[in-house]
Amino acid sequence: MKVDLYERIWMWGVGVVLALFFTTTAISALGHHFQPPSHVETIDPKAAMKDPRFTPQGVRLDSEGRIHADIIALMFTWLPQEFSVPAETPVTFHLTSIDVIHGFEIVRTNGQSMVVPGYISQFTTQFNQPGEYLIACNEYCGIGHQGMMAKMQVVPKAEWKAPQVAVQPESEVSHDR
Ligand code: CUA
Repeated sequence: MKVDLYERIWMWGVGVVLALFFTTTAISALGHHFQPPSHVETIDPKAAMKDPRFTPQGVRLDSEGRIHADIIALMFTWLPQEFSVPAETPVTFHLTSIDVIHGFEIVRTNGQSMVVPGYISQFTTQFNQPGEYLIACNEYCGIGHQGMMAKMQVVPKAEWKAPQVAVQPESEVSHDR
């Protein structure tokens, strides 16, 4: 079959571009562990603040000892404003918004997800390098967008203490330590 030179150049060009697309996708997925976050769980955004899945917001352990971070996005902050997780341990993030779409980004990590009102975004990742991480909003959400930040402390595994889940008022709890 006779294929014109220009046609051949275009065919090779398209082939190379497609190969590049597939390669970059494969590298992000397999090398950097970028995963698309799930949006399977729904929630009433107006009631999210009182929803048991997000009360209180922050880090918790489930009955099997896995670590979860429940975070609410709103114009223009993240709740909680600061939390800590252990290094080298998988953490499952559950995110929701009570107003508009925000973008959850743990800067310089693969911890990123859109946060859409009405849905719970979920992804699991881990942080191998202890330190303080900035959480920013990477989806324009209004006049205070650029100030929408929070902090995540990643502490060495041995030093990390699971948060107290007791919700009794402080005055009624006797502390032995
Ligand atoms: Cu929230 Cu931009």
